[in-house]
Amino acid sequence: MDSSLKRLFLLGLAFCSVLFVFWGCRETATMVGGQVEKAFQHPQVLADFHQVSGSCKDCHISKSGPIEDNLTHENNQCVECHASLAKLADVGVRGGVSPHRSHLIGAVACTSCHLGHEKSVSYCDACHSFEHQIPFAGKWERTFVPIDTDMMAQEQALAAGPRETTDVVIVGAGGAGLSAAVSAREAGANVILLEKEPIPGGNAKLAAGGMNAAETKSQAALGITDEKQIMIDDTMKGGRNLNDLALVKILAGNSSDSVDWLTSMGADLTDVGRMGGASVNRSHRPTGGAGVGAHVTQVLWDSAVKRNVDIRLNSRVVRLLKDSADNVTGVLVHGKVSGYYVIKADAVVMATGGFAKNNDRVAKYDPKLKGFKATNHPGAVGDGLDVALQAGVATRDLEYIQAHPTYSPVGGVMITEAVRGNGAILINRDGQRFVNEITTRDKAAAAILAQKGGSAYLIFDHSVRKSLKKIEGYINLHFVREGQSAAELAVAIGVPAAELEKTLASYNRFKKAGKDEQFGRPNLPRELALAPFYAIEVTPAVHHTMGGITIDSRTRAKTVNGKTIEGLYAAGEATGGVHGANRLGGNAISDIVTFGRIAGFEAAQYARQH
Ligand SMILES: Cc1cc2nc3c(=O)[nH]c(=O)nc-3n(C[C@H](O)[C@H](O)[C@H](O)COP(=O)(O)OP(=O)(O)OC[C@H]3O[C@@H](n4cnc5c(N)ncnc54)[C@H](O)[C@@H]3O)c2cc1C
Ligand code: HEC
Ligand code: HEC
Ligand code: HEC
Ligand code: HEC
Repeated sequence: MDSSLKRLFLLGLAFCSVLFVFWGCRETATMVGGQVEKAFQHPQVLADFHQVSGSCKDCHISKSGPIEDNLTHENNQCVECHASLAKLADVGVRGGVSPHRSHLIGAVACTSCHLGHEKSVSYCDACHSFEHQIPFAGKWERTFVPIDTDMMAQEQALAAGPRETTDVVIVGAGGAGLSAAVSAREAGANVILLEKEPIPGGNAKLAAGGMNAAETKSQAALGITDEKQIMIDDTMKGGRNLNDLALVKILAGNSSDSVDWLTSMGADLTDVGRMGGASVNRSHRPTGGAGVGAHVTQVLWDSAVKRNVDIRLNSRVVRLLKDSADNVTGVLVHGKVSGYYVIKADAVVMATGGFAKNNDRVAKYDPKLKGFKATNHPGAVGDGLDVALQAGVATRDLEYIQAHPTYSPVGGVMITEAVRGNGAILINRDGQRFVNEITTRDKAAAAILAQKGGSAYLIFDHSVRKSLKKIEGYINLHFVREGQSAAELAVAIGVPAAELEKTLASYNRFKKAGKDEQFGRPNLPRELALAPFYAIEVTPAVHHTMGGITIDSRTRAKTVNGKTIEGLYAAGEATGGVHGANRLGGNAISDIVTFGRIAGFEAAQYARQH
């Protein structure tokens, strides 16, 4: 920042604290000028604190001037006086982790964490629990806000009529929404993309394992033979044949195209591994096995920005608007600072994701999951589904909710299936294997829950660690236990050393023979023999909601009577049918990119005709 300004500020602060001893800061400030009453209280929030250095204009264009929901101007001001995120990467590092450097995507705004007039909260704590101490800190908490809150204000906004008009509104800036936005722009439509969180990417930015696709260039380059039909068969089998076969054919049929589409925008999907339930290696990810979700969503984000998609964060859609013929005509939005307003649009795409983070709702559909933790981002609560239901959509398969078998209760994050895919085994507290580690998620989760203590340990050696970049991340989060030998590791986690050694010896024998005689595990990538050895405690957590809005093969939303709701499209985790009763790892990213693209294209076509 400007150094003379800083000096002035510090001087003022010193002056204030001296006077504070005698009169308290409140009186002092009133004496000094009384420009803003709030500023003179003992600063509780960021804006009050900054008042000391100037006026509201430091952050806002003017006291009453335009403040948009993205807070673009305000964030630019923070950067101007302080620095950019990249430059702040070394600020506030604790335990090797900086809040200013992370896997969050998009142009991460300062105001996602540093709030102006409320207590600041570190957005990282939505998932992790780091020791960071954000100035003017509040506690991270979220309560579910039903879509029919503030009905008076909603009715007023509706009565006021549309504030804006566009061709296509897309609800949700996760993977499906960003794909739809890019493809709708490519098809020539004007697009407004609305996201309720301050940070884009939804669950998609968290996807760690990979993106399933068959008959791709990356597979060919690695000498892997695959067929779309095998992907269809695997997906149907994984979904217990409850999937909508027409949608599954589109998923597999377009998967390789979707990889090419992302690659043409700059994505790297050249590494191919295996995830549960797949009979061929088809899980695509960046070189070295880096997280697929953060990469793909960042590429899509950049692409959407480049194509001038009007992206609005902190903007929640609370209602779909329809005319008397039941055709969709737009949305009612709640902007964080702009309040409720109506956007008129020819077509709307619901890309609002799932509801795994809303345990009340999860338990309503599947009582067995009551009280479970979830692997999801904080916005995955199902308010988008409520909006769609209120507009009369049909839903399917809502009772099918997937628990991910390997969530770290200590680290607060999910451990990607790729750790098992690349060779880790699962053991119980007796030091013994108990399941084919790469079976489908429902089976693996049930098997872990059935063990003593309701949890198990992922065990792997140094060669597995070297094979997957992701693991370095877990090491950084300090929840991976380590031993120079299998026996030392066993002691560290409290399982019988002789048993663990025996388990590893027989597993390594299976690997050499190419056959798992105990549990029939189909892939045995490597021996577990290279020290050090590692362990991560894991237990199941709610991961994916298979059900949602019923769509046809053009992503058009249906009513309970099977009628098409004109102008309404849906894609991604918000929909049901693609995954049947159980989703295979790697199929969601494929789903959201392929159906997101289709939804964007179809919505743009529809808008052109209206
Ligand atoms: C930790 C983790 C790891 C995963 N790993 C993999 C993997 O390796 N491979 C794989 O294929 N899948 C994986 N998945 C699953 C996959 O990431 C998701 O199923 C998929 O990304 C869903 O994409 P989406 O675009 O449909 O929803 P999301 O990406 O969740 O986006 C939905 C967006 O809509 C917003 N929204 C919701 N309601 C509203 C509203 N009313 N108004 C405005 N905005 C709204 C949300 O805030 C969110 O940003 C993983 C999931 C998690 C949680
Ligand atoms: C440090 C920068 C900063 C200063 C100084 C500041 N604001 Fe803000 N203001 C913000 C941010 C950031 C928001 C967005 C809401 C939030 O994060 O709390 C905001 C939001 C607002 C809003 C929108 C409604 C709301 O509360 O969300 C109003 C009105 C507002 N500020 C008025 C003022 C006034 C008046 C002053 C001077 C007394 C002021 N601000 C000083 C940062 C600042
Ligand atoms: C006009 C310049 C200016 C603007 C604009 C500004 N700041 Fe500051 N900020 C300062 C000064 C001066 C300090 C105190 C001295 C220092 O830390 O360098 C400070 C301190 C802080 C602190 C540290 C408080 C503490 O207890 O150590 C935080 C956090 C902060 N600012 C965040 C923000 C954010 C976020 C925004 C944007 C919403 C913002 N600032 C906008 C000048 C500014
Ligand atoms: C993901 C949340 C997050 C975002 C985004 C974020 N910060 Fe921070 N910031 C924090 C946390 C947490 C701390 C406290 C770190 C600690 O010391 O434990 C912090 C500390 C600071 C401090 C005080 C440093 C000190 O010396 O005390 C400043 C200044 C600051 N941030 C400015 C910014 C600016 C400017 C931006 C935007 C470019 C920004 N931050 C974006 C979470 C965030
Ligand atoms: C929406 C949930 C969520 C939020 C918010 C979040 N993380 Fe994460 N984080 C995860 C998950 C899930 C993983 C592990 C997934 C994976 O990549 O395998 C992870 C992994 C990590 C890791 C280890 C992997 C690596 O890349 O080194 C670090 C460090 C980390 N997060 C830091 C942060 C910081 C700093 C923030 C805030 C700026 C943050 N995270 C916000 C969910 C989240």
